[in-house]
Amino acid sequence: MWAGLLLFLVPLVLSASPKSDEKFFDTKVAPILTKRCLPCHDTELNNGGISFRDRRTLIAGGKRSPSVVPGHPETSVMIQSLKHEGELQMPPGPALPAKESELLTEWVRRGAVWGTKLPMRRKGPY
Ligand code: HEC
Repeated sequence: MWAGLLLFLVPLVLSASPKSDEKFFDTKVAPILTKRCLPCHDTELNNGGISFRDRRTLIAGGKRSPSVVPGHPETSVMIQSLKHEGELQMPPGPALPAKESELLTEWVRRGAVWGTKLPMRRKGPY
């Protein structure tokens, strides 16, 4: 019986590890944001007032603040915009492939943990 409990708990502990969430951001989330969002949301193109510079500014968002509610993709403006159903549709034009949209949703569900990599194209003050 204890063995069964352990088998149940170990994956829970592993999935909650901050290290694996950081890795998830660096390997899965950052490449999508870099490719799909940063071309319009960088240090100079401050579209919508949202800044992708770090976790705090991305979560804060712009005039529709907050853009991300960690743990709650269903109430996160940023995640809702990916569905291309409401007033705000991101990215403009064709919607993201489902797989990428799911990864961003999963990231918010896991608490929107930031990692290390999100290189801005241009340096400069916001
Ligand atoms: C082609 C350029 C372009 C791309 C690519 C793009 N955006 Fe935007 N984004 C904009 C513009 C322009 C606005 C302002 C629109 C408005 O306020 O109505 C905006 C606004 C937003 C906002 C609203 C901020 C607020 O608080 O009002 C969010 C959230 C957002 N973008 C997320 C994203 C995400 C996530 C991606 C990548 C998946 C992305 N955008 C890709 C141009 C772009």
